[in-house]
Amino acid sequence: MADIKKNILLLPGDGIGPEIIEQAKKVLDEIKSNNLFDFSLETGYIGGAAYDKFEDPFPSETIENAKKADGILLGAVGGPEYDALPRDVRPEVGLLKIRKEFDFFANYRPALVFKELVGASSLKKHLVEELDILILRELTGDIYFGEPKGIKSINGSTAHYDTMIYSEAEISRIAHLGFQEAMKRGKRLCSVDKANVLETSVLWRKVVNDISNEYPEVILNHMYIDNATMQIIREPKQFDVILTGNMFGDILSDAASMLTGSIGMLPSASLNLERKGLYEPVHGSAPDIKNQDIANPLATILSLAMMFRFSFNQNSIAEKIELAVTKTLDQGFRTKDISDEDKFFGTNAIGDQVRNNFKNLIR
Ligand code: IPM
Ligand code: MG
Repeated sequence: MADIKKNILLLPGDGIGPEIIEQAKKVLDEIKSNNLFDFSLETGYIGGAAYDKFEDPFPSETIENAKKADGILLGAVGGPEYDALPRDVRPEVGLLKIRKEFDFFANYRPALVFKELVGASSLKKHLVEELDILILRELTGDIYFGEPKGIKSINGSTAHYDTMIYSEAEISRIAHLGFQEAMKRGKRLCSVDKANVLETSVLWRKVVNDISNEYPEVILNHMYIDNATMQIIREPKQFDVILTGNMFGDILSDAASMLTGSIGMLPSASLNLERKGLYEPVHGSAPDIKNQDIANPLATILSLAMMFRFSFNQNSIAEKIELAVTKTLDQGFRTKDISDEDKFFGTNAIGDQVRNNFKNLIR
């Protein structure tokens, strides 16, 4: 074990967060007990869970823990019990703050269709078979964080407003990553904006075009967000890497998740320039199915695989985690969301099976 010890922080959060993180932890336990990779493990609070304990969705204890961490695995945040809270302490604020605090600007949302699950997609088989696209979403700018935002009065009528804004530097760093990722894959990059209407998009398109000169092998095209949303459902395989801003990426990635059969299958990674990362399933806290042992833990386990690949440079471990997931599907194990029969397996049973498969793969 020549590697430097890494620090992993688990932030289970709310809703189904704790139960799905528990399943990813089973894989971590195997990695540890088999001395595959040396890491320390901490568990902390974020979102509603943090509010309950500290009256703050992103408390200083979590900031300190996150500073020490090389990889953070987050479950989900939010729930109806927090809906009435003031905006600035709502669970989602915890998530937005951790992204901003550590400059996790590069959000990787791959949409892969597992061959075992082609039938689970709401699209026809030939449209999604072997689909493999990557949505690269800018995560720390745009209308999510633009200032000013607030409340004012317009002609005696209450108005709420946000600011959509992107600087050249913000666009440039995510665009470079987009081209670099395209170079590693199919060498096609689709940049999504709304340049027919929005100022921010005019700059976005100009910066992306300028940078494309540095990557002559990558075929670049531009699409407006409305058209892209239609195209991703009409003919998803036309895409390789999709590069887009925070708001459009939020919407497009939910749409893309349905191609894969279930949002419960989609992992994500959010990296800063040091490749420290926040890893989370794309789905939310699903409070309606919390504690029923029916949540799909696979997106979380696949997010853990991304942590080993991106933040720890441990491709072989990442691949084995992914293989353990594929095997589990191969063996017919399905949670409720991806099962087309009445029969399905529980969150815990799926987690155990992934652990068993992983164990066999590292023997
Ligand atoms: C996501 C979520 C978040 C976002 C919410 C929970 C703040 O929808 O990660 O896509 O809008 O970014
Ligand atoms: Mg979203």
